[in-house]
Amino acid sequence: MPENDNVLVGFGYKDDAGVYRINDDTCLIQTVDFFTPVVDDPYSFGQIAAANALSDVYAMGGKPLTALNIACFPINDIEKEVFNLILMGGLDKIKEAGAALLGGHSIDDKEIKYGLSVTGICGIDEIYSNSGAEPGDILYLTKSLGTGFAVSAICTDFLNEDTLNEATLSMSKLNKYASELAVSLMSPNAVTDVTGFGLIGHLSEMMIASGTRCEIDLNSLPVINGVPELIKKGINPAGTKRNRKYFSEYTSMKDGLDENLLWIAFGAETSGGLIFSIPKNKASETEKIFKIKGEPLYKIGSVLDKSVKDGIYINIT
Ligand code: CO
Ligand code: CO
Repeated sequence: MPENDNVLVGFGYKDDAGVYRINDDTCLIQTVDFFTPVVDDPYSFGQIAAANALSDVYAMGGKPLTALNIACFPINDIEKEVFNLILMGGLDKIKEAGAALLGGHSIDDKEIKYGLSVTGICGIDEIYSNSGAEPGDILYLTKSLGTGFAVSAICTDFLNEDTLNEATLSMSKLNKYASELAVSLMSPNAVTDVTGFGLIGHLSEMMIASGTRCEIDLNSLPVINGVPELIKKGINPAGTKRNRKYFSEYTSMKDGLDENLLWIAFGAETSGGLIFSIPKNKASETEKIFKIKGEPLYKIGSVLDKSVKDGIYINIT
């Protein structure tokens, strides 16, 4: 890789998006994400895919400016209406983000895929990386967990409408509101979003990047209603099993923990919430402001210290 002094966060960093300095004050944030449909409704899928792609800009503390559609469609097999609804869902989220859709590219493909490439902007001193967590910080999560289980249950008889609706609303919600509030309070030491690697996976990356250990209270995790019942019925996506196998290495678990909750902690999420690592002295003010604004903020644990032993970064209690 050619060295470039303007690359502040680049390839090889396990952060949410790339960050490039364009002058002494401002940097550019760039990210791309697209995937196959997670729900049957095309408009909702468009919203979810766009909210997910925009999320990595919010996870860096940035503001999305422009977006480009990335679309793969079976041109001969799919009704034009479906195609239009997906793009409309995406566009509505881009507008809600205050960004502009500049164009995009679509190709003929056997399977539908949709997402965005997003460019955002951020003050040079306002970049929220995942590497700044400090001992004593309180850890918060902004969305409930369990979207991956709900999505996997769509083709089964087990999924009730309330669970699907709660998951769909959660996945299509922009991380804009939580990110902007945190930025305005200048409170977090570190931020990341929860997606495919699940809460434990993304939290491990934050702790590894920060060189800190943390403790998570399993019973404090917010969970989408009905998800534990889906796990009892045997719903367990392959990505979640991979996450648990891979990220267990970084965790120590107290005996007797609830097995369903553990799966949820490792569960792959689609368009999940943000994890904030907030200094203890700013925690109560942050909680108060989020409450006043009606933005969910769930306390899930705390950052312990920098004495990482045996590669264990997360104690689950
Ligand atoms: Co991310
Ligand atoms: Co991403």
